Amino acid sequence: FDRFCFGLEPQTQGRFTSTTSAIKPQIENTTAKAAKESKTFQAIQEERREQAERSVLISCPPKINEKKFLDYLSKHGTVNNHFFYNSYGAYAVVEFSSRDSIASLKESTNIPAVEHEAAVPFKSRLLSLKWPGSQSSNQPMPKFKNQSPPSIGEITQLLTEKDSIDEQLQSLTEALQLTEENVSLRFLVCSLLQDIAGAYFPECIIRPFGSTVNSFGKLGCDVDMILDLDGIYATSQKKGSGLSLEYQVKRGASERAVTQSILSVIGKCVDQFGPGCVGVQNILQARCPLVRFAHQPSGFQCDLTANNRVAMKSSELLFLYGQLDPRVRHLVFSVRCWARAHSITSSIPGAWITNFSLTVMVVFFLQQRNPPILPTLDRLKELAGPSDKCVIEGNDCTIVSDLSKITLQQNTDTLEKLLQEFFEFYGNFPFNKASINIRKVSHPPTTRASMRKLPEDAADVLANPLQTPTRGQCGREQTKPETTALYIQNPFETTLNVSKNVNGTQLERFVALCRESAWLLQQKEILNRSSVSPWGFAALLLPSVTSGTGVKSRRKRKLEPASSRIKNLLDSLKIKGGETVAKKGSE
Ligand code: CTP
Ligand code: MG
Repeated sequence: FDRFCFGLEPQTQGRFTSTTSAIKPQIENTTAKAAKESKTFQAIQEERREQAERSVLISCPPKINEKKFLDYLSKHGTVNNHFFYNSYGAYAVVEFSSRDSIASLKESTNIPAVEHEAAVPFKSRLLSLKWPGSQSSNQPMPKFKNQSPPSIGEITQLLTEKDSIDEQLQSLTEALQLTEENVSLRFLVCSLLQDIAGAYFPECIIRPFGSTVNSFGKLGCDVDMILDLDGIYATSQKKGSGLSLEYQVKRGASERAVTQSILSVIGKCVDQFGPGCVGVQNILQARCPLVRFAHQPSGFQCDLTANNRVAMKSSELLFLYGQLDPRVRHLVFSVRCWARAHSITSSIPGAWITNFSLTVMVVFFLQQRNPPILPTLDRLKELAGPSDKCVIEGNDCTIVSDLSKITLQQNTDTLEKLLQEFFEFYGNFPFNKASINIRKVSHPPTTRASMRKLPEDAADVLANPLQTPTRGQCGREQTKPETTALYIQNPFETTLNVSKNVNGTQLERFVALCRESAWLLQQKEILNRSSVSPWGFAALLLPSVTSGTGVKSRRKRKLEPASSRIKNLLDSLKIKGGETVAKKGSE
């Protein structure tokens, strides 16, 4: 047990800042700053939410005189912050210092007169700026903040210029992570939606969860939202004559039925009254009923759920893990990027592994290091104070909220080593009998032996990805409670499998790619900046030669001799000057 004890000697073990002390400071956003100042997850979310309530979203002419624009808005109060971005047209997010400014601004805003059609007179905080006459073309343009992720080509270029794999993974996180502005826009979109839902439930709050807030969000990811009605149930318990009043309410057959009916009505309002909200779909029969729509002015795909507090708690848990050591986020961003490049994950729902599952897999892997980099969920529960107690629908979701109570053990693994061993770990994980559970300590299977043997028997290992290696495997894995291909226990709803959707074919592809990448990372040529381009992590993003999706392609591969398969792998990496690594090796 000692190996996995965290925080037992808080006085003696100062907080550990990893090996990655060489890691450059990340783009400092409010979330990062707040986390550094040791604000709790809830405090950070509240701050952002309150900012969003003081903000408006304004569609602007493409060439805008920024000074004149701000002067005009300042008549309604002090503008704290503002930025411009493009999404099928120019937009500005403007944050006032007081909510009164919004009321004043709305008073001077008109409902447009539309010809041939009629307007739904819903007064939202999505506005259009009308600018009389044409603007001079030589005025300075405002800076437009980018809201899209870099393309795979741009990522490859960026990584190729770096000097080490550790640097590559750090700069990948910086390039992909949500920016300060993008997070503000996400909270603003939730706040705009709250104005619609608030027409029925004035005390409701629409909160973002998932990758918008868990610190693993990539530019372009969806906005997961929760319609939080908890505030409605809070009543003032005044003692007095013994008399009291109750609201007369309609009743539904179950909690789920009530959630479905509320979401269907809100979905209808979003569709019919919500400016900029298009493609509204009610997906109410899902395990977690939701309304899906696109918010055009921000370019976000949104999923609105209700009665989903456990998911908010798992976002907090991932956020906490992401703050404990910078290597956690770097590894998660890299693995997610690698998985997307190889279509292991997809934006379309299906039998694929999801980003959420991948993140839990990275956390599990980091808990299994020696010494461990991350504590178990049970340890986070032990460290919790009385105010952290949280039980949701019978699930104990208690975790420590004060990060300073967590003491980490000294583990100096580099990112390069962690990446390599992540691929080895899952390339050899006994998925057929073991489950992934970040709550309790489990003993990892030994993962090395078979990978180290490559390339001599590469064909066998790569061709039978789900066959558990016989040599080098030991330890007591947690037995899988059901026969689905991949079992990742939901951190808080412990009877649920996060990856129930994943089928054997998709898991096989993941394992085969892990093996291929682990093997690639052992090749001198791949690790040497001057021998191949793209090199290092960028080389792992190139199309795979071992992981076809079709049965036919797998059969064909099996028949090829190992040497030709390995040659193909290396051949697939273009080297500078148009030669192949294989050729270079034979010179
Ligand atoms: N979630 C869950 N169980 C699942 C899927 C999702 O508890 N089987 C919760 C997680 O808290 C997750 C959130 O729902 O973070 C949102 O799900 P999703 O959008 O699929 O994942 P994200 O973490 O937001 O990642 P992405 O960037 O792909 O959107
Ligand atoms: Mg999401």
